Amino acid sequence: MRRIHIASDHAGFVLKQALARHLNERGCEVADDGVFTEESCDYPVMAHKLCHAVAREECLGILVCGSGLGMSMAANRHPEIRAALCTTELHANLARRHNNANVLCLGARITGVELALAIVAAFLNNSFEGGRHARRISLLAPLAGNR
Ligand code: RB5
Repeated sequence: MRRIHIASDHAGFVLKQALARHLNERGCEVADDGVFTEESCDYPVMAHKLCHAVAREECLGILVCGSGLGMSMAANRHPEIRAALCTTELHANLARRHNNANVLCLGARITGVELALAIVAAFLNNSFEGGRHARRISLLAPLAGNR
């Protein structure tokens, strides 16, 4: 069974609940890292919690906040995380195939539930192509290239 971590802040809570329910119904093992209410909270706390789990378990994760921006900024501070803020299915498709993204970020104030479900499906149904893309990913680390 495929294990997926999911987390949100207060602004992403409703969409996170819908995605988690959908993934559960489709047979995924969903690890919900919170939040569990719409009480105002700080998105970096949730992003860091999920990213530690995704790095440790080498699985995929989904982060939802209002815009998706704050979550992606926080997640990409983690060296093992490649987080992609996606607003289209093609973004999610390429994020997996070319960028080997392991965290999908969504903005609940940007993307409606139906499109979000399609983006999640594209993210989960595609995988990394390797080859030249692996070389490029290895160059993402700031000290990997020439200055
Ligand atoms: C919360 O109001 C909002 O700032 C947050 O969800 C997110 O959009 C930040 O990037």
